[in-house]
Amino acid sequence: LSISRMENNETVFRRKLEMICGVPLFWSIVEEWAQVESFQARPDDLLISTYPKSGTTWISEIVDMIYNNGDAEMCKRDAIYVRVPFMELIIPGFSNGKLAEMPSPRVVKTHLPVQLLPDSFWENNCKIIYVARNAKDVAVSYYHFYQMAKMHPEPGTWDEFLEKFVTGEVVFGPWYDHVKGWWEKRKDKPILYLFYEDMKEDPKREIQKVLQFLGKDLKEDVVNKILHQTSFQEMQKNPTANYKMIPKACMDHSVSPFMRKGIAGDWKNHFTVAQNEAFDSDYKEKMKGSTLQFRTEI
Ligand code: A3P
Repeated sequence: LSISRMENNETVFRRKLEMICGVPLFWSIVEEWAQVESFQARPDDLLISTYPKSGTTWISEIVDMIYNNGDAEMCKRDAIYVRVPFMELIIPGFSNGKLAEMPSPRVVKTHLPVQLLPDSFWENNCKIIYVARNAKDVAVSYYHFYQMAKMHPEPGTWDEFLEKFVTGEVVFGPWYDHVKGWWEKRKDKPILYLFYEDMKEDPKREIQKVLQFLGKDLKEDVVNKILHQTSFQEMQKNPTANYKMIPKACMDHSVSPFMRKGIAGDWKNHFTVAQNEAFDSDYKEKMKGSTLQFRTEI
């Protein structure tokens, strides 16, 4: 799969999803699965793991700013998907086609559910930052993203998409299993489990958690620079963070911008009362028995 193929060959877009161990994935990931599975993690890799639309780009920018001691210009050296490559989306000649050549320490992104993570991350005891976000806001954000990012199948209407989200027939599978799976894993692996809503409420506090997890100590003014550079307003206008460097054929920001709203609670503008009730009762069933709690007050 190459970018030119993506730009010139319509058939790479809106293709149906394919399965690996019951998890729906982009056909291109399935095509390269042998390579994904044998990915060679290094002990000093930092893995950023999320379900799609949960704040991946936000935490990636925060971590890159930390790694570069708050030097915003250094963080504009390349697009976020090159600085923090998407491990399983192998596109030769593009970001993660070059992961093997990337100097250490690398920051790598994944959306894989915990059971599909390549073994080498566990074998090397790599540090992992997981960010989880309220399911309803994820569903809304994912719906808009499906519309603008053409590698996804057609989302259909909001009602149709919500049904697919609930049944897990979306890329990377069910949200419920994803957040619960990584939550369980944090008991015996070095995983910092963060929440998008906490990051919205007090980004400084959450950045401090990341610093502590990474064993780094940065001066107050550096932390303040990181806070500023990773605010929604700054990232929205930063071409190396807002995904506008991706060809329009792949992501059409005029349909819906990647940096769309960046708030907690936008689901209230999308869910009907009936959708909300059905979602809640199904949610209760699926999350039953888990100690994982999401905040609903914001
Ligand atoms: P919305 O579509 O709700 O606006 P991901 O990076 O995992 O794909 O997640 C994208 C979501 O995170 C989008 O949500 C995007 O606007 C939001 N986001 C990105 N950067 C952000 C920031 N600095 N602050 C708050 N939200 C941010």
